[in-house]
Amino acid sequence: MKTAITELFNIEHPIIQGGMHYVGFAELAAAVSNAGGLGTITGLTQKTPADLANEIAKCNDMTDKPFAVNLTFLPTVASPDYPGYVKAIIEGGVKVVETAGRNPVQVLPYLKDAGIKVIHKCTSVRHSLKAQEIGCDAVSVDGFECGGHPGEDDIPNMILLPRAADELEIPFVSSGGQADARSLVASLAMGAEGMNMGTRFMCTKEAPIHQNVKDAIVAASELDTRLVMRPLRNTERVLNNKATKRVLAMEKEKGADLQFDDILPDVAGVYPKVMMDGDMDIGVWSCGMVAGLINDVPTCKELIDRIMSEADELIAQRLKGMNAA
Ligand SMILES: Cc1cc2nc3c(=O)[nH]c(=O)nc-3n(C[C@H](O)[C@H](O)[C@H](O)COP(=O)(O)O)c2cc1C
Repeated sequence: MKTAITELFNIEHPIIQGGMHYVGFAELAAAVSNAGGLGTITGLTQKTPADLANEIAKCNDMTDKPFAVNLTFLPTVASPDYPGYVKAIIEGGVKVVETAGRNPVQVLPYLKDAGIKVIHKCTSVRHSLKAQEIGCDAVSVDGFECGGHPGEDDIPNMILLPRAADELEIPFVSSGGQADARSLVASLAMGAEGMNMGTRFMCTKEAPIHQNVKDAIVAASELDTRLVMRPLRNTERVLNNKATKRVLAMEKEKGADLQFDDILPDVAGVYPKVMMDGDMDIGVWSCGMVAGLINDVPTCKELIDRIMSEADELIAQRLKGMNAA
């Protein structure tokens, strides 16, 4: 399939794997890229720029295809060494950067000068327009359904994507709630040039995370996510587990007085224990409503091939058939 996104990123299929903390390692990024999509290494999961340089080198050994690095701009007090990470990205020959969180304007000139394409992930039309204005090449429009941080506007993709299509000039992909050929074809119909998936790619053979995590997502339905940290305006969609229940109970108890420190043990530093050790209730971890559409753990190639062939079928038979009728 040829779209503005396959052309921009020089990939075969318009399918992107979004950056995911402690999931987006070289193994997953290379598997997605080798399958014709765009895989993504999560920059900040690597503790230092030198670690990121090693992970990029590893990925370069595993694939000849383009892959991306995610740079998430966190609302933290102690800022990570972003210039160092950017240097590792440029020196590693990375072709695409997915930015997320705060406005990436501080790193954009360096990335653009190095010929790197930038896709900014955000949850509103106004932030998408800002990304376009500062010179991003594309946007990943992340709806309310998404795993991770959906923002505070709560606009689902059935509204957000056509709104983005009405306003944006640069190409965009859908993100949040995307899982299969139906997602892709619907996204294309609403004006997107491809789709970005997070939770779906966690349930692949190559995702280098504990089997318990994959099993939990397969077992979960669309009813099994919750929003935490809304009182802190740092809303995160997570799987409902014991830690989620503890956090929500604390949020209820403290009300408007809630401080980050009140929930710290359940939200900070828990990803390695969940993703690597499979300790499922140690803390909260991002998961999308799309868990309800995930029932298996294929390889990335099986997943992407299935999506593309079913998308062809959907377009050529179901939709074309209706058109003729
Ligand atoms: C476990 C997990 C960790 C994530 N970590 C990050 C991250 O570090 N940076 C980021 O920009 N997005 C992160 N995301 C968001 C994804 O890149 C993607 O935008 C989101 O998962 C899309 O929604 P979906 O899960 O419904 O496909 C994460 C998502 C999940 C599920």
